[in-house]
Amino acid sequence: MATASTVELKIQRFDPERDNEPHWQTLTVPVEPMDRVLDVLTRAKELFDGSITFRRSCAHGVCGSDALLINGRNRLACKLRVEQLGKTITVAPLPGLPIVKDLVVDMDGFFEKYRSVQPYLVASPVEGSGERIQSGEQRDRFDDTTKCILCAACTTSCPSFWAEPEYVGPAAIVNAHRFIFDSRDENAEARLDILSDEDGVWRCRTTFNCVEACPRGINITKAILEVSYELRASSDHVR
Ligand code: SF4
Ligand code: F3S
Ligand code: FES
Repeated sequence: MATASTVELKIQRFDPERDNEPHWQTLTVPVEPMDRVLDVLTRAKELFDGSITFRRSCAHGVCGSDALLINGRNRLACKLRVEQLGKTITVAPLPGLPIVKDLVVDMDGFFEKYRSVQPYLVASPVEGSGERIQSGEQRDRFDDTTKCILCAACTTSCPSFWAEPEYVGPAAIVNAHRFIFDSRDENAEARLDILSDEDGVWRCRTTFNCVEACPRGINITKAILEVSYELRASSDHVR
């Protein structure tokens, strides 16, 4: 392999069968000009230590499985080029979730919150052609929130979530928004009721960390505020 240089890769390691707490491992890893952090992690595993554990699948910013805390910010390892980071790269698991091993966190609670907002279309059968017609304007209403890849970078960067892990979190609200504002859906009231809970939208303090973390560029805070306005408009849900 023709390598251009090396980087110092600091990886947070934790093996629950051996370690009482996480520790850092530092490796000098050869890199190529177009490498992304995922490439460097993969090379470190291949060249130095096959036990380094992390999730990845698509390697192209689609599946959302390799969100990590990289040089202090939540980002996708497969979308971040090494040249954007300098000579030292620190990689740790997403904050605020239990560590399973090394860079892998337990996502069960995250997906439980996602499921709690009923993230699917609820609509009665359609007579005739079976099509549910929607105008471009109606589609635009929720276009931004269709882009979520469920990487959890937003929720795990949110101070309100760190302080109160029961907070449903920005990712779940984004996915509720996607259906609440879909003109074809008939279940907005139920989702708003769920999000009016004390651990729902009201826990957002408009900190904007989530917006900075989102690899899909979703305006998460705007979506949260739109859901909040919708809740206020329907006083039934304000507890
Ligand atoms: Fe990831 Fe953005 Fe979806 Fe949050 S809203 S889970 S940061 S893609
Ligand atoms: Fe958290 Fe984003 Fe609100 S970081 S406080 S969910 S604006
Ligand atoms: Fe799929 Fe990075 S590996 S988003």
